[in-house]
Amino acid sequence: MKALITGATSGIGKKIAEKLSERGWELILTGRNEKVLKDMQEQFGNTEIITAELADRSEVMRVYEFCRDKNIDMLVNNAGYGLFGRFEDIDLDDEVNMINVNITALHILTKLFLRDFKKRDSGIILNVASVAGFMSGPLMSSYYASKNYVLRLSIGIHEELRRAGSKVSITVLCPGPVDTNFNNRAGVSFSAKPITADYAAEYAIKRALAGKLFAVPGLAIKAAAIGQRLVPHKLLAAIVYNVQSAKKNGSGEREQNK
Ligand SMILES: NC(=O)c1ccc[n+]([C@@H]2O[C@H](COP(=O)([O-])OP(=O)(O)OC[C@H]3O[C@@H](n4cnc5c(N)ncnc54)[C@H](OP(=O)(O)O)[C@@H]3O)[C@@H](O)[C@H]2O)c1
Repeated sequence: MKALITGATSGIGKKIAEKLSERGWELILTGRNEKVLKDMQEQFGNTEIITAELADRSEVMRVYEFCRDKNIDMLVNNAGYGLFGRFEDIDLDDEVNMINVNITALHILTKLFLRDFKKRDSGIILNVASVAGFMSGPLMSSYYASKNYVLRLSIGIHEELRRAGSKVSITVLCPGPVDTNFNNRAGVSFSAKPITADYAAEYAIKRALAGKLFAVPGLAIKAAAIGQRLVPHKLLAAIVYNVQSAKKNGSGEREQNK
């Protein structure tokens, strides 16, 4: 069995790579950090690597072309990151790059691999969204919106596959806080106790191999994903604002909101 994993150099993606390798899978790993990719290749054996900047559409296509004749069994769309700040303050180019990685690259790879998987009626897509996908996220508005896209896209495709009686499956991972490099990059700290990347990866793989649509690790996050349905959108956004502002190292955001 062979998997392509994006964002394999760190955090959840790195752990998914380790765990699939332990299960005997061949891997194709991608990320920007060539040194980490080479170290992983040496560690796992049976691994190909391809560095790629997924904010660049031509690089996404290069990854697909590299893989298209290699009989990929599982596509793991994991690469992604967040940007913190008021919507008007976040640099436009930074934000468009984030949208390109979180949405456009995932969209392109999902479509192209889904076509290949459907032709042979087998294959697994594991898309990494977030619990953020279930709600609006003031102070990380575009990140939350990007994860809403991933979640909704995955649910829609799941229903199309179900109606077609397809053996191809799609799973969407929706974790809450996970202890990775994510917060450093977003410039925030945790306001709730994170789960480990190890736990998130193991849970995601089990759900994906079982053909389940949702992978929501941890009881508290499951409760949040279900409970948010009962809360009006504006109230939920106000709650998330407070959670997000607490993440910014106790910054004055909450004060300004009073
Ligand atoms: N950590 C959390 O609390 C949390 C919660 C919910 C969902 N998630 C989601 O989980 C996924 C993995 O994040 P993580 O927490 O494991 O964070 P992480 O440790 O920062 O890993 C992010 C990965 O994405 C890759 N990446 C980032 N920008 C890229 C780009 N422009 N081109 C190619 N690859 C890029 C990075 O590789 P290079 O640096 O080598 O490019 C890295 O391997 C993301 O989609 C994130 O939104 C995380």
